[in-house]
Amino acid sequence: MLKFEDVYFAYAGGDTITGVSFEIGRGEFVALMGENGAGKSTLCRLCNGLLKPSSGRVAVCGCDTARTRTSALAKYVGFLFQNPDRQLCKNTVREEVELGLEYAVADKAERVRRRDAMLELFGLDGDREPFGLSRGERQKVALASVLAPEPDILVLDEPTTGLDYRECAAIMGVISRLNSAGTTILMVSHDMEVVSDFASRALVLNGGRLIGDGAVRETMRARRVMNEASLLPAQIPSLAMRIADLGAEYAGAFTVDEMVSAAANARGSARP
Ligand SMILES: Nc1ncnc2c1ncn2[C@@H]1O[C@H](COP(=O)(O)OP(=O)(O)OP(=O)(O)O)[C@@H](O)[C@H]1O
Ligand SMILES: [Mg+2]
Repeated sequence: MLKFEDVYFAYAGGDTITGVSFEIGRGEFVALMGENGAGKSTLCRLCNGLLKPSSGRVAVCGCDTARTRTSALAKYVGFLFQNPDRQLCKNTVREEVELGLEYAVADKAERVRRRDAMLELFGLDGDREPFGLSRGERQKVALASVLAPEPDILVLDEPTTGLDYRECAAIMGVISRLNSAGTTILMVSHDMEVVSDFASRALVLNGGRLIGDGAVRETMRARRVMNEASLLPAQIPSLAMRIADLGAEYAGAFTVDEMVSAAANARGSARP
């Protein structure tokens, strides 16, 4: 679905993405992690043709982004900006959600159907003015307008940053259901709990280089990679590793259930 082959990209200041290669298959849920300035947002913009590689190749559903118009790539890739306010430009939520559909769907009745389905999915009032809404609600509007054209790949640049727990759970619930229905997800996140709960694979960027690519549960236990990228694992794997350092058999625990059963086993084997 999405393929990077030895991709380099430089802004005026020097190389920002350096020799990055990976391939994401249909239906995967991949987290993109790394410290501030690692190049995550730049990599996202390379996915949808907003930026073109200085060398190497980016292919989306088989289309080389350097040779395909950005408007044509938008059919395949939905892109949520790190800041939703960069995306919002209409006077009402209804118009905002319909905006993305104008290019993607020729039939007016179908546009209205998809728009209304999105408003309902996110529980949004179509008459409201986007800029009068809370940050979480604005994030929902931006996401609804990205999802309305039903893209195959969703690239989400920090979709839950600045949201409270309920808003985060609502947004992640929708994203997770779309993924279960087959949408491929690449999601930037600094929130290791969100990553461990939802993503199955993690890419780790550091200084524009890909230093990690593997299962989330393996990556969070890879101390060298996590340290190099200045990342802390989610709480359960972190706790498991610290207990394992004390010599107990908890090292593999990744979820609360796994931690509870490791504790129960340890208790059982400690009994005379
Ligand atoms: N438009 C630009 N022009 C020049 N340099 C840029 C531009 N955008 C980003 N950079 C630089 O490129 C590097 C990577 O930035 P990028 O925004 O991709 O990082 P990031 O991993 O998304 O960071 P954050 O976690 O803060 O969002 C940084 O050093 C940044 O200063
Ligand atoms: Mg960023």
